[in-house]
Amino acid sequence: MNPTSYECDILIIGAGGAGLRAAIAVAEINSNLKIGVISKVYPMRSHTVSAEGGAAAVIKDDDSFEDHAYDTISGGDWLCDQDAVEIFVSEAPKEMIRIEHWGCPWSRQEDGKVTVRPFGGMKKQRTWFAADKTGFHMLHTLFQTSLKYDSVQRFDEWFVTSLLVDEGRCQGAVAVEIATGKIAAIKARSVIICTGGAGKIFPFTTNAKIKTGDGMALAYRAGVPLKDMEFVQYHPTGLPFTGILITEASRSEGGHLLNKDGYRYLQDYDLGKPEPKPVLLSMELGPRDRLSQAFVKEQEKGLTLEGPYGNYVHLDLRHLGEKIINEKLPFVRELCLKYENIDPIKEMIPVRPVVHYMMGGIDTDIHGATPLPGLFAAGECACVSINGANRLGSNSLTELLVFGARAGEAAAKFASAQNGFSSELDSIYRDEVKRLNEHFLKKTDGTEKIADIRMAMHKSMEECVGIYRTETSLLNAQKEIQTQKDRFKNVKLSDSSSTFNTEFIDALELSCLLDVAESVIQSALQRKESRGSHQRSDFTERDDEQYLSHSLAFQKENDFPDIKYKPVTITKWPPGERVYGR
Ligand code: FUM
Repeated sequence: MNPTSYECDILIIGAGGAGLRAAIAVAEINSNLKIGVISKVYPMRSHTVSAEGGAAAVIKDDDSFEDHAYDTISGGDWLCDQDAVEIFVSEAPKEMIRIEHWGCPWSRQEDGKVTVRPFGGMKKQRTWFAADKTGFHMLHTLFQTSLKYDSVQRFDEWFVTSLLVDEGRCQGAVAVEIATGKIAAIKARSVIICTGGAGKIFPFTTNAKIKTGDGMALAYRAGVPLKDMEFVQYHPTGLPFTGILITEASRSEGGHLLNKDGYRYLQDYDLGKPEPKPVLLSMELGPRDRLSQAFVKEQEKGLTLEGPYGNYVHLDLRHLGEKIINEKLPFVRELCLKYENIDPIKEMIPVRPVVHYMMGGIDTDIHGATPLPGLFAAGECACVSINGANRLGSNSLTELLVFGARAGEAAAKFASAQNGFSSELDSIYRDEVKRLNEHFLKKTDGTEKIADIRMAMHKSMEECVGIYRTETSLLNAQKEIQTQKDRFKNVKLSDSSSTFNTEFIDALELSCLLDVAESVIQSALQRKESRGSHQRSDFTERDDEQYLSHSLAFQKENDFPDIKYKPVTITKWPPGERVYGR
């Protein structure tokens, strides 16, 4: 009979960049540690694969760790923990060289040296890339490297439904094998969550269907706070309708953003003046929060174009010419041809801001440790926090290497110090099986459809929790999410089979989305200031006196989450003005 209980030393939930980097770190530290890697998709389908523009790390002589740290901290509107940023920038180059040695094909200069491109909000060129398929190549490299370790056991296409927590520590997880419907306990001496972000709480996002905040919800339900959830990044250039990302690299190569009159409107938003060549920190190379906010202002002035999928502006790459587009931006061209039927060599690309990244996530320290002993997190699902109120493009791919490795090391150390498992785990597992049967698989009296609840959630998140928010809009969203959570209790599955029951997985994902959405709304409601990506039209200024602190959302039963605060760590850079284009 198939086992319903497995054991490993370290269980890694999520097999994208952070999860695989953590697995390699553990395997390299101690080949005797048994590593379980569980993922709801085959590892190469993880969302890291779709990252395009590049990964930041100091490499040039005119650059420095101080510069990278300062750009990151000012870009994050001073909400970054500066100790974490200092670690990040100093460990970044080593990680980038390490992954090169494992086979990552970084794009190169004529002389063979690694080449870098400018990126938004950075005053030096430090974004390493592999054409515009950087995430694909990094994930491929990490996946292939992980294959050489016999100590890694993979659970591909398994969905984790809850964490096993007893005696005050995390000791594994309960998961469903999607192909068979088998529900199993996977006991582990430590657990690392690396499940990525939660862009799917919004309808219009660059994020893949799989980015449903599962890991964030797992931790949140286990009593771990979600930190800085109000900070949701909009990427300025997504394709209307699909939300597919048109990489920032297209602007770093010299692309222009034009309003309906063909005017480079960013010059009106304190982002500098047009120059023939891209100027660092200026215009199209300003930070993402400012560019997305400028789009809204331009729309309010009636200067954007109207299309069937909302308002948009144009990204013009035509002047770059065929050679540069084909060499540096082949994926952009491919995406435009396939999804918009336009060729950027000859035509302008319609774009609009689109939800891209969660700056917030599971509260961790610089080792990836959460407040729950035995539980670690890294990558987008975690908030360590180097991204503050607005992440700079290309910092996140590097973040998953640096903090994936650190979480792996710390989780290995923690696991090695544990002796056994609590005797209660089997009964906790049985309770979880009962819950899944009663609430979903064997429930006969439900009436609500998953799609209806998800659509209602999307509508309220889009309308009330977007680039600009107010107390009224957030209170509306809060009420709406509560309604959807109540409806969810009465959800009905029409598929009762155990083989590839994707409706069951959709329901589990929706429950995660609702939990994450409530944490975003409540954190946004309580933060009565504007900072980075969190813009309150009713509190338009940054307020360091009251809010130079991280929000921590704690789940409460049958109520809105409790929001507490903890101070931001400042080491060298006191809060200052964010200056671009000057
Ligand atoms: O535009 C981009 O290529 C996105 C990069 C990032 O979010 O880091």
